Amino acid sequence: MTAVSAVAGLDLHVELSPTRPARSLEAALREAVVDGRLPPDTRLPAARTLATDLGISRNTVAAVYAQLTAEGWLEARVGAGTWVAGQVPAAAAASTGRTHASHRLIDMRGGIPDVTGFPRREWTAAVRSAVLDASATDLGYPDPAGTARARVALAGYLARARGVAVQPEGLVVGQGFGELLVLVCRAIRARGATRVAVEEYGHDYHRRLIASTGLDIVPIPVDDEGAVVTALDGVDVAAALLTPAHQFPVGVPLSAERRRWLVAWAQRTDRLVLEDDYDGEFRYDRRTIGALQALAPRRVVYLGTASKAVAPSVGLAWAVPPADLLPDLLDQRELAGGRPAALQQLALAAFIDGHEYDRSVRRLRAHYRSRRARLEEVVADELPGCALTGEAAGLQCLLRLRPGTDEGRVAAEALRRGLLIEGLRALRPPDLHDAPGVPAMVIGYGGPTPGQYETALSLVVESVRAAAREAGLA
Ligand SMILES: Cc1ncc(COP(=O)(O)O)c(C=O)c1O
Repeated sequence: MTAVSAVAGLDLHVELSPTRPARSLEAALREAVVDGRLPPDTRLPAARTLATDLGISRNTVAAVYAQLTAEGWLEARVGAGTWVAGQVPAAAAASTGRTHASHRLIDMRGGIPDVTGFPRREWTAAVRSAVLDASATDLGYPDPAGTARARVALAGYLARARGVAVQPEGLVVGQGFGELLVLVCRAIRARGATRVAVEEYGHDYHRRLIASTGLDIVPIPVDDEGAVVTALDGVDVAAALLTPAHQFPVGVPLSAERRRWLVAWAQRTDRLVLEDDYDGEFRYDRRTIGALQALAPRRVVYLGTASKAVAPSVGLAWAVPPADLLPDLLDQRELAGGRPAALQQLALAAFIDGHEYDRSVRRLRAHYRSRRARLEEVVADELPGCALTGEAAGLQCLLRLRPGTDEGRVAAEALRRGLLIEGLRALRPPDLHDAPGVPAMVIGYGGPTPGQYETALSLVVESVRAAAREAGLA
C-alpha cells in the first residue's frame, strides 16, 4: 500500500508492505536519504505523527528510527527529535587514513570495525569520571609519553590480555597507530636507518607513512604461515614491520618457528621488529597468540590501538618500545608538535579500570564470530568452488576465488551494486600488483552496519558470480 506523510514540508511517498511495515518503512527512509529526497539535517516528524499519517503503530516507527539511528542514517538530537544525519552514514567510514566510503556504498574493506554498538553510556560515564576526578597535574601540560593513569591502566591491560612485557614508564600513548609508526620510523631514521622491511600485503597508507619519513621499503613475501621472515636473511634493513598475531589481510598467524627465527634474527643482527598488534584480541579458536614482544622486549616495538576494541573515534593507540628507543620517540613527538589529549586518555583509563574495555572486546568478539559464521554459511551454500581462509581471528578474512576469476572484475561488479570490497592484489605495493597468486577478495565483516550485513553478503555472492560468468566459469 502507498502512504504519504509530510516530512519537512515535503510529501514523502512510502510503499508500505502490510505484512512487514517496519522493514518497508526502514527501506523507504534509507532510499529517500540516499537519493536526496531527505537531505542531511532534515528534521523528521515525531514517531507518533508519522505513525498516524501512515496508519501504523507508533512503536513500529520508533523502532525504525532507533535502527536507522544505530546505523548512522539518522540522529536523535536531545530535546529536538530525530533528524537525517549531517553525514550519512559515518558508521561505515574507513579508519586508516584511506578515503571514507561514500554514504551510498556499503564498506566491506578489511580492518573496519562495526561501531554501531559503541558503548555510549559506558564511555560517557568514563568521560564524566575522567573530568570529575582529574587532578591539577592532569589538567596541566601533560607528560609527553601520556598521562600516568592511562599508562598504568594500559600497561596492566596489555600485560594481562596480550602478554606484553611492560611497565607503565615504558609505554607511550599516541593518537593512532599511524602517528606512532611515523615517530618510530623518524627515530630510527635519525639513527641512520635507510630501509624497513614490510609484509608485501598491507595498507598502502602505512607504506606511504613510512616512505614519508625518508625510509625505503623492502617487501617481505607472505604465505600460509605468515610473513616469510627467512627472506630477511642478509637483507640490509634496520627494522621489519609485521602483523604476527593475524597477518593483515591474509589472516594467518606467524608460525611458532618463524616467530623464533625472527626474534633470533633481530637479536643476532641488532635489528628491530615493529609488531603491529592491531586486532590481537579477536581470536575465535582456542589458540591464544600472545605478543611477540615478550620474547625480546629489547628488540621489539609493540604497537596497539583502541580502534578495533572500542572505536576509531577514540583516537588512541600505544607503543611499547625498547627502553633505549623511548627518549628518541618522545624527541620526535616534540618535533612533530602534537600529543594525545590528556582528558581522552583519562577517559580510556577509567574505561579500562571499570572493565568496560574487556566487556567491549567480549561483545565485539561474539558479534564478529556470528558474522563470520553467517559468512561461512553463505559461501558454502552459494559459492561452490570458493573458500574462506584466515577466518580464525580479526574482522576480515579472505574469500579464495576459483582460479581464472579476476579480482578487479569482482570489485568492479561489487562497486556497481553499491558495495566496496578489495581484491588481495590491491593490498600489495603497486609494482607487485600483477605478481602471480590465487585470486582472492578481502572480506571485511566489520564494516557493514547490522542492517546492511545480509545485503552485503548477497552483493558479494552476486558480484563473484557475475565475474565468474565473465571469465567463462559459470
Ligand atoms: C593492519 C592494521 N594495522 C593498524 C591499524 C591502525 O590502527 P589505527 O586505527 O590506530 O590507525 C589498522 C586499522 O585498520 C590495521 O588494519
